[in-house]
Amino acid sequence: MTFVPGLLKGRVAFVAGGTSGINLGIASALGEYGARVAVFSRNAERVEGAQRLLAAGGVDAMGYVGDVREYASIERAMGACAEWAGGIDIVVSGAAGNFLCPANELSANGFRTVVDIDLNGTFNVLRSAYPHLRRPGASIINISAPQATEVYFAQVHVSAAKAGVDMLTRSLASEWGHEGIRVNAIVPGPILDTEGMARLAASEEIREAWLQANPMRRFGTAREVANLALFLCSDAASYVNGAIIHCDGGQVLGGGRDFSSSWAALKK
Ligand code: HXC
Ligand code: NAP
Repeated sequence: MTFVPGLLKGRVAFVAGGTSGINLGIASALGEYGARVAVFSRNAERVEGAQRLLAAGGVDAMGYVGDVREYASIERAMGACAEWAGGIDIVVSGAAGNFLCPANELSANGFRTVVDIDLNGTFNVLRSAYPHLRRPGASIINISAPQATEVYFAQVHVSAAKAGVDMLTRSLASEWGHEGIRVNAIVPGPILDTEGMARLAASEEIREAWLQANPMRRFGTAREVANLALFLCSDAASYVNGAIIHCDGGQVLGGGRDFSSSWAALKK
């Protein structure tokens, strides 16, 4: 237990892409602290599985099947969630797609697909949530990625999409702040046991290099990302708006530019 029990009692959370990995970790944590939680994704079995897992942990949970790329489907789910729970207080937009592919081999549809899920999908989630948000006090958390600000090989589609997510975060924080709707983003670093990591770190060698480039010399956990989400959607963050916060052990500081071994050699 990290926060005060019942921190989110009475709140309702909608977690887009909340049926696996980091987003499911966030959904579980929100539920653990008292929120009623709805999860949303494409795969009906996953939705059912996540809903069951949440319920087994004592969470009042609901699941909706749909695709963030299709406005009608997310709009329908958001409306159903608001009806189920009497409104929505917390929205997490974390649905995403990724694969490694250098730009010269990436098809136009491959690029469009990732931008559609991550960026257009995030707009769809936020836009469809807007009429149902209880305000003041509503909190939106977008899940960004380090690719938004750092260049990674074979990640042009993700970089373009997540850079857009960062600007959506800032723009809507600015437009909706006066209504009492806060919009922030979390930038997870490399998180253990996730689909995202599995897709990017294809071998033990790559994982090791990644590990050494991190100032804390370890990967993060979904729970650590969830702890930041808990803070951001709680009243403790009532004046935090438009912030894009890394949860990455300091990876963004630039492990690749770490000259500590040269320094050690010079000192000998
Ligand atoms: C090149 C690829 C590809 C690959 C798909 N495409 N996979 N191109 N390399 N490995 C191309 C296809 O050829 C097609 O283009 C287009 O993308 C759409 O492919 P579909 O399979 O029809 O798409 P869809 O069924 O909508 O699936 C979306 C997906 C899929 C993104 C391709 O992988 C998915 O559903 N992913 C969700 C889970 C996920 O990715 N999780 C990781 C998130 S991690 P053509 O031209 O052939 O029609 C993350 C950041 C992690 O986001 C950061 C870690 C630090
Ligand atoms: P994940 O387990 O693959 O989670 C992605 C989720 O999004 C799944 O629940 C998936 O379920 C859903 N989804 C995908 N496309 C969708 C669509 N079109 N419509 C609705 N739902 C969709 O990935 P993860 O690695 O935990 O990543 C979660 C988030 O963290 C992503 O936003 C990612 O960019 C970000 N991130 C991850 C890392 C990392 O280390 N893993 C690092 C930085 C940022 P369905 O398949 O059922 O649709």
